[in-house]
Amino acid sequence: MSTQTQQRSGDRTAGGGGETLTVTDNRTGQTYEVEITDGTVRAMDFRQIKVSEDDFGLMTYDPAYTNTASCRSAITYIDGAAGVLEHRGYSIEQLCEHSNYLEVAYLLIHGELPTREQLESWTHEITIHTFVHENIKSFMQGFRYDAHPMGMLLAAVGGLSTFYPDAMQVKDAELRHIQIIRLLAKMPTLAAFAFRHNMGQPYVYPDNDLSYPGNFLSMMYKMTELKYEPDPRLERALDVLFILHADHEQNASTSSVRAVGSTQVDPYSSVAAGVAALYGPLHGGANEQALRMLNRIGTIENIPDFLEGVKRGDERLMGFGHRVYKNYDPRARVIKKHLDEVFEVMGKSPLLEIAVELEKRALDDDYFTSRKLYPNVDFYSGLLYEALRLPTEMFPVMFAIGRTSGWIAQWLEMIQDSEQKIARPRQIYTGERERTYVPVDQR
Ligand code: CMC
Repeated sequence: MSTQTQQRSGDRTAGGGGETLTVTDNRTGQTYEVEITDGTVRAMDFRQIKVSEDDFGLMTYDPAYTNTASCRSAITYIDGAAGVLEHRGYSIEQLCEHSNYLEVAYLLIHGELPTREQLESWTHEITIHTFVHENIKSFMQGFRYDAHPMGMLLAAVGGLSTFYPDAMQVKDAELRHIQIIRLLAKMPTLAAFAFRHNMGQPYVYPDNDLSYPGNFLSMMYKMTELKYEPDPRLERALDVLFILHADHEQNASTSSVRAVGSTQVDPYSSVAAGVAALYGPLHGGANEQALRMLNRIGTIENIPDFLEGVKRGDERLMGFGHRVYKNYDPRARVIKKHLDEVFEVMGKSPLLEIAVELEKRALDDDYFTSRKLYPNVDFYSGLLYEALRLPTEMFPVMFAIGRTSGWIAQWLEMIQDSEQKIARPRQIYTGERERTYVPVDQR
C-alpha cells in the first residue's frame, strides 16, 4: 500500500483486503497496518511511523542490503536453499545443455527465446559490430605492460561512451538497441586486447566468420596462422562458461549497474560500474583468489592445515560460500562437467586433484556444513581458465564478458520500470554536530 492511501489514526488499516502486517510503536502506543505484497513490506510505509509531527519517520537499516529487495525483476530466479537458478523461467542446466550464449543473451534481454529468424538476425548484428574504433586500440596500448586486464577493460568500456555520444539518450529504444548490440559485440574484443597487451603480443582483430566464443579464442590465441581454427570442445566450454556467468540477479555488480544507470547515464558507463564491482576479490575476483589459494596449498597433505587456518579465521576458503546459495551452486556442478573436456584438449591440471580433495574434506567438516558453505561457481571456473592457459588476472575479465548480457538486461528493465528513480539510500548519521571551527594554530 502506498503511504498516501493510509490514514493517520490510532488504528490504521492498509485497505485493499490483502495480507497485512500490524506494527505497534511502543514509543507512542500507535498501531499501524502495512500491506504485504509478494512477501515484502515497503520501507516507505514505515516513514509514517513518527513520535511527533516533525519527526522524520522510521527508516529501515540494512547494511549490505541483505534483506532488502531493490526492484521487481522478471529476469533471473534463484532459490538459494534448493540450489536452483533459472533465467526467464528456463533452468541453467537446460540452457547450458541446449542453448548458446548469444541465444541466452537474447532471452535475458528480450524475455523470450528467439525464433530462428530472430536468432539469426541477432547473431548477425552482434557479429558485425565486433570491431572497435582504432583510437580505442591506441588508448589501450597506452597502458603499462603489466596493467591488470580488468583495469584495462574497466577503462575501455567506460571509454566507449565517448565514441557513441548518442548512448546518453537512454529513453530512445532504437538507440538503446544499437548500444546493446555494441556492448555485447565489443566486450570480447576489449577483453582479448587487454590479454594480448599483457602478453606483449599484437592485438588480433575480430574474425567475423567464427562463432562468438570461436572469435574470442582467435583474438586471444591466433599467432602466425592465416586463419585460427578453434577446437570445438574449447569453443563449447567457453560458450557454457559465458552462459553460466550471464546473470545472477541483484549481486554487487548488477546492483552497481542499476544504481549508476538510475542516474540515466549511458549504458557503457553503467556497465563500467559493473566491471568495477566485479573486479573486487569477493565478487568476480574470487576465482583468481581460489586458484592462488590452490597453488598456495600446493599438495594434498597441506589441506588439513589450510582448513584449520580457515576455521581459525586466518583466511577464507575462496570459491566457497555464497550470499544466496546455501546449497551447492548449480553453476559449479555444470562447470565441473565441462572440465574433463577442456583437460582432454589442454592436458590435466595438477591443481584439480587438490580442488576435488579440498571440496570433499570441507563438505565433511561441520564448520562448513553448519554454515551452509558449498562450492560456488568460482571454485572450479579458475581451473578451467587455467587450463585455457589464461593468467589469473584474466579470470574476472572472462566473468565480465558473460555477465555483460545480464547487466544489460537488468539495466534495460530498470530504465523501463516506472517505479525506479535515482538510487539514493539513507544513512544513520553517527558523527559530531554543530561544532565550532578551530583555527589551525589553536588545535
Ligand atoms: N570461508 C570460510 N568461512 C566462510 C566463508 C569462506 N569462504 N564464507 C563465509 N564464511 C563464514 C563466515 O566467516 C561466517 O562465519 P561466522 O558465522 O562464524 O561469523 C559465516 O560463514 C557467514 O558468512 P558471511 O560472511 O556472513 O556470508 P556472506 O553472505 O556475507 O558472504 C561471500 C558471502 C561469498 C562473500 C563469502 O562466503 C565469501 O567471502 N566467500 C569467499 C569468496 C567467494 O568465493 N566469492 C564468490 C562468490 S560467488 C560469485 C558470484 O556469484 O559473484
